[in-house]
Amino acid sequence: TARPVVFSGMQPSSDSLHLGNYLGALVNWVKLQDEVDPIYCVVDLHAITVSQDPAELRASTRRTAAQYLAAGVDPLRSTLFVQSHVPAHAELAWVLGTITGFGEASRMTQFKDKSAKQGADATTVGLFTYPVLMAADILLYGTDLVPVGDDQRQHLELTRDLAGRFNSRFGETFTVPEAYIPKESARIYDLQEPTAKMSKSAASDAGLIRLLDEPARTAKKIKSAVTDTERDIRYDPAAKPGISNLLDIYATITGTPIADLEAQYAGRGYGDLKKELADVVVGALEPIRTRTFELLDDPAELDRILAVGADKAAERAERTLATVYERVGF
Ligand code: ADP
Ligand code: NA
Repeated sequence: TARPVVFSGMQPSSDSLHLGNYLGALVNWVKLQDEVDPIYCVVDLHAITVSQDPAELRASTRRTAAQYLAAGVDPLRSTLFVQSHVPAHAELAWVLGTITGFGEASRMTQFKDKSAKQGADATTVGLFTYPVLMAADILLYGTDLVPVGDDQRQHLELTRDLAGRFNSRFGETFTVPEAYIPKESARIYDLQEPTAKMSKSAASDAGLIRLLDEPARTAKKIKSAVTDTERDIRYDPAAKPGISNLLDIYATITGTPIADLEAQYAGRGYGDLKKELADVVVGALEPIRTRTFELLDDPAELDRILAVGADKAAERAERTLATVYERVGF
């Protein structure tokens, strides 16, 4: 197809995805389906670079895939699959590892940070070679564009270097991918600590809206959101981070411009905004929650969808791998 290939890999999430994942990432993935050739991969091979509970990993992988489907990832327009189902990822990673400099890999700041936290004995070689596996994920599909946050930028640079190096040593094989920055991308903050990004690693659960939470719990969290001691509902992220975050969430879900929301809430209290926002958020998440549980209650159907995705992915990946094997002399 003429559409650019977009690769996005996400780690299985041990619990439920949160509103930041949904509004900041998933909503864009769903939109992209009409514009690009999307490859969405639950990267369970990456997840075992730190110690895992096997049963928990298996459940998380399925729960994560189910939430993507429930949020609107369409297995007909996207290639949605689980990384470990497609052996070519590990196979290409081996080959790429043999053209990666040890010093080059040693410069990856994410490895340096994570291994410093874990200590040398708890740090695995798998964590060290993680960026090489990520390069394989991307390069197998002729990826043109990779949505990356700041924490993955250096890894994408390594991917580009490896692609260029392989091409110049063995002949034109890989597409050299570019970073993709979505036109508009929401950034959602913690409801209890509205200057910190909403994140699964938050100290407390109270500031986190989870896709699979009971509606009453979601509403309660929104109604307990930290705001400020003023009374006016005005968008000012520096002075009023709590209120601005609520307005951002409202605007992103409903598509209403912030200025219209400010006008709508002129002269009204924070309680009104929170109550109405709770309805908006619950209304948006309820179908996703219901659909996720339906998918998880029908394991055969979820397996079928993931098997079809793995077949689609494997067919493309194996073509690339065959060329690579031939070029390196196998
Ligand atoms: P977390 O920060 O909870 O660990 P991840 O790093 O696993 O989440 O991110 C998964 C995806 O969700 C990424 O595309 C990331 O940019 C997006 N994302 C995560 N948190 C937010 C947030 N608070 N606002 C917007 N997007 C977010
Ligand atoms: Na993170």
